[in-house]
Amino acid sequence: MTWSSRRAARRRFSSYGPVDTELHYYVPRQELVDRACAELLGEDPTRGGHYITVWAPRQRGKTWVFQQAVERIRARGDFEVALLTMQPAETETTAERTLDVLARGLRYALGREFPELAAWRDLENLFTSAWFSRPVILVLDEFDAVGEPFIGHFISQFRSFYSRRATEAKRESGQKSCLLHGLALVGVRGVLGAEHARGSPGSTSLTTGFNVQRGLHIPNLTFPEVESMLRWYERESG
Ligand SMILES: Nc1ncnc2c1ncn2[C@@H]1O[C@H](COP(=O)(O)OP(=O)(O)OP(=O)(O)O)[C@@H](O)[C@H]1O
Ligand SMILES: [Mg+2]
Repeated sequence: MTWSSRRAARRRFSSYGPVDTELHYYVPRQELVDRACAELLGEDPTRGGHYITVWAPRQRGKTWVFQQAVERIRARGDFEVALLTMQPAETETTAERTLDVLARGLRYALGREFPELAAWRDLENLFTSAWFSRPVILVLDEFDAVGEPFIGHFISQFRSFYSRRATEAKRESGQKSCLLHGLALVGVRGVLGAEHARGSPGSTSLTTGFNVQRGLHIPNLTFPEVESMLRWYERESG
């Protein structure tokens, strides 16, 4: 199919895989995308964003919301933005291979080479001006596919990045020693251990640095949202 005939094709409903805003009926979910952007960019995008976790059941539209957010932030031009899936890490049994899933994902998302990551501390060198020219916004989708023994290592690295950036509060985001400006860990099951605890999230050491309370809530499509897609179809089909 050529590009033009693809565009001319009649819009359809899609119930699996990524929604294509040119081919499918969809709900803009503008407010949700705005919130995702606001978390990743932070109150002052020249300083730093938040590191958040987003857990919601399958098929809630998590990936879609972050694809939209990433697209919008990329269009600003002042960040390096990558959304990648950690799904392939599910079958990996060593730290090296698990880290390689991240390195390969970045390579694919940003279209250039990244160093081999052989140990957890190599992540520290990765998010520096040696490899990135602008502050970085990273979305790790299917983060809960990462093997149990390795999740804690990722979290503690990210946590230390966040604290280090916080101690460099006076510097602009791109001048900080660690360039990881905003981070979202997305999946179907909480991996920090405190998301499901009632009372005060943030009490376990793993959650320090992660703003568990801010974690984005992704609800099901509402009745008016579904209705809007049917009305859209009605208008187009007559
Ligand atoms: N904004 C939207 N408008 C219309 N349909 C949507 C929208 N977002 C998601 N969907 C529908 O929901 C399905 C799942 O979306 P998506 O893959 O983003 O969810 P997910 O929460 O990431 O799912 P999983 O947990 O399986 O990865 C899509 O295939 C599509 O049919
Ligand atoms: Mg998904």
